[in-house]
Parts: sequence; C-alpha cells; structure tokens
Amino acid sequence: MECNFSKRDVSLATVTADASLIEVAEKLINSQGDLVIVQKGEGVQGYIDHKSIIKWFLKEGDKAAQIKAGDIAVEIKEKDKLPEKIDIESIVERLKQREGHLLLTNEKGEVIRGLSFMDVIDQLSAFHKQERHERIKAKRLAKNTILFTHLMIDMLPFGVILVSRERGKIVKCNRLAKKILSENFSNYDEITALINGVYKDKVIESKSGAYYRMEVNSLDKKTNNILVAFIDVSREYTLLNQIKEIQEEVETAFLAMLPDQRIEARLKSIPEYMDEYDENTGMIKITGIIEDGCYRHVVNMLKLLADTFKQGLMELPGMNKNTLVQATILHDIGKVQPDLKVGDVVNPKEVFEQGFYHAFRGASLSRSLYDINDEVYYLIRYHHHAENELPADFPDYLLVMHRFFRLIDGLSAGITRRGSKVKMKIKGTKILVREQSNFPSYNQEIEMDIYTGRVIRRDIE
Ligand SMILES: [Fe+2]
Ligand SMILES: [Fe+2]
Repeated sequence: MECNFSKRDVSLATVTADASLIEVAEKLINSQGDLVIVQKGEGVQGYIDHKSIIKWFLKEGDKAAQIKAGDIAVEIKEKDKLPEKIDIESIVERLKQREGHLLLTNEKGEVIRGLSFMDVIDQLSAFHKQERHERIKAKRLAKNTILFTHLMIDMLPFGVILVSRERGKIVKCNRLAKKILSENFSNYDEITALINGVYKDKVIESKSGAYYRMEVNSLDKKTNNILVAFIDVSREYTLLNQIKEIQEEVETAFLAMLPDQRIEARLKSIPEYMDEYDENTGMIKITGIIEDGCYRHVVNMLKLLADTFKQGLMELPGMNKNTLVQATILHDIGKVQPDLKVGDVVNPKEVFEQGFYHAFRGASLSRSLYDINDEVYYLIRYHHHAENELPADFPDYLLVMHRFFRLIDGLSAGITRRGSKVKMKIKGTKILVREQSNFPSYNQEIEMDIYTGRVIRRDIE
C-alpha cells in the first residue's frame, strides 16, 4: 500500500550552519515539524531535532547559547532518506530497525522534510478508513447480489434445484421447484432417484395438473453438483393429448363407420406418392412413398369434416353429414396406382390413370357392395369432375356438397402428401382456408362460397 505524504503540508524549517542554538530552538518551535535542516552554502550539512537542543542546553547551561547549528548538526546519511512515494510496510520496517529520524526526499533525492510518527499514524489511519469503507461496500454489494439472485431465481418461469451428488442434499432451490418437490417427491427414495437422473427428460404431472419436463445436468466436476430443471410443458402436453384424443376419436369413428373391414384393407393397400414437378419438362420425380397413403388421405378428409361439423357447417341446408362421411370413406376405393420407386422420373399423364376412371369404378363398386344412396353415388362418381364438366342430370341441390367435397379432397391430398397444415373457418356459406406447407409454391388462401361456387384463391408467402 503506497503512502501519500504530499497532502500533508509540513514546511521544512531550515537554518544556516552559523545560527545559534536559540535561533534553532525558535525555528523549531515555530515550525510544524520536529527537526530543523542545517544548510551550509548551497548544500545541506545535516539536521537538528528537538531532543538534541534540550540535550545541549542541559549539558552546557548558559554556554549552550554560544553553540552554532553547524557544530551539532547530525549528518544525513543515505539510510536516513526515504523516497516520498513508498509503501507503508517498508516505512514501518525501517522504523523498527533504527532510532532517529527518517527524512523524506523528492525525485531528485533532495530532503523535503522529516517524517514524524504522526505522519505514519495518519497514513495508517487513512488506510484503515479506506479498507473499512471498501469492506462495508463489498459486504453490501454481496448482500444485494445474494438478495437479487434469490429474487431472480424465484422469478424464473421454471423450477431449478442445485443438488450435491455426494451428499445427496439440495444446495439451492427456487420457489417453483420447492412446490413441485413437495407435491411430487415426498419421500427420500424419490428424491434420490431424482438426483440419480431416473426421471431425466421425463414429463411428470403435478398434483395441481401442470406438466413438467425434467432436465438433469451435471453442473461442474469440481463440486459434483447437479442442476435439475423443471420446465413447464403443460400447454404443449395438453395440446398433444388433445390432438391424440382427436386422432383416436376420428380413427375410432372411422373404424366404426366402416361397413366392411375389407374397405380398410383396400384403402391401406393403395399407396400415395410424394413428388417434385419439373415445369419445363412436365415430368415428376418420385421423392417418397406413403404405403398406406389412401387410408391416411381418407382419415385426413374425415378430420377436416369433423372440424367443419364443429363449426356448424352441417347445419346449412344442402349439407348432410352422413352422406359426406360415406362418400369420403368410399370415394377412392376404386383407385389403382402405378408401381413406382423413389427416384423414378415419369410423365404423370402417362403413368397415372385419370381421376374420373377410379371415381366411376368406386361409385359402381360402392353401389353394388354397400347399399349407398344416390347422393353418395353421385358424389363419388363425379369427385374428379369440375363443376362445368358435370353431366346435365347431376342434381343441382347436390352442388353444395360436391363443391365442399372436392375442396376437402384436395386439401387432404396436401396434408397427406406434402405435410400441409390446413386451417378452415366457416363464415356463413363461405369457407375460408389457409394452407401452409414446406413447399411454398403450394401455400395458399382459398375463399369458397359453397352456395354460389365462387372461389377466390390467393398465394401466400
Ligand atoms: Fe379420388
Ligand atoms: Fe381422394
């Protein structure tokens, strides 16, 4: 710790070598220091301190007045000198080693003043004050940091526990983690299992109905601490469960609706192909095969149907739920697909049978095997006909379902073959559709009025 004496303003008392001892004493009394420097010519001869003045007066009595400063000045040696900037430990060390005065020198080595004990005490006191201040500041900072850390970890939206693997004890734990622990890990064995990572990456259901995914990570090898985090996945988990339930519901409903198990087997045997279309050549390249594609296509159509049921579409005159469900299940049973493999480049017009063939075939098979009514028959038979291609005997009242049926047939193909996400919104007689997939060129918005047949289609980014 370096001292700073320059702030202490102690002027250096000087006398010439021929000054009398009385003059020296007067000079000393009027100065703030406790020694007088004796000058001779341009240089310094030495110094006289108060003790030596008293000593000479006691020894010589009245004769002391005749003594000249130069006669008794103590010679200044190099060991008496101290640079002005020096650390306090060195000063204390020098003071312990010797008696007598230490003299502070400037950068040129010239004596600027004597160093008194008061100077040293002052410095020590200043250091002490400074250290105390810094210690209090550090303590306050540490206290605030701990407080802040506690607040922070309590505010985290997930539970965190720091566990010592060796001692098997909880080192730190935030509020949420405490709650989860108390609800789910009541006994010691469960907590030990938790520490040992038995529940790693598992989703647990808390008593309050929330779901937490657990992550267990070794934090640092030095302390062997483990960080356990509980991440609230309630929203995702509930959604996933809902989707599973809907899927199961639809598939159960689908199976229940099947008049014959052979239909399921038939649909599962019809593959669907994923492909890439080359605009320049008109050819397609097969990029994937969905073995039970036709079955999935029908399930996806039923899901779209179920969605529109929920939104009240079937309440519109002209719509009939049973007709649509039967037509959906049976519409592609007459489909025949070519045998292709991934990587094949083919002309789709040559290898794929035109849609109306399987539509006619399917309608005929369904009527003879499954006792369908005329409405279902017409919907199946003409599901690959655009409105302006329909025969004159197609009943007008069936146009409403025909339009809707062709819409969900196309959307389901996108879901099945391109993994599209489709959202449908019913607004009166209008159906608003938003389709998004990994193939941006297929991303679109469709607005269809199933009563007028008016369709507005927009590409979306
Ligand atoms: Fe079809
Ligand atoms: Fe279809």
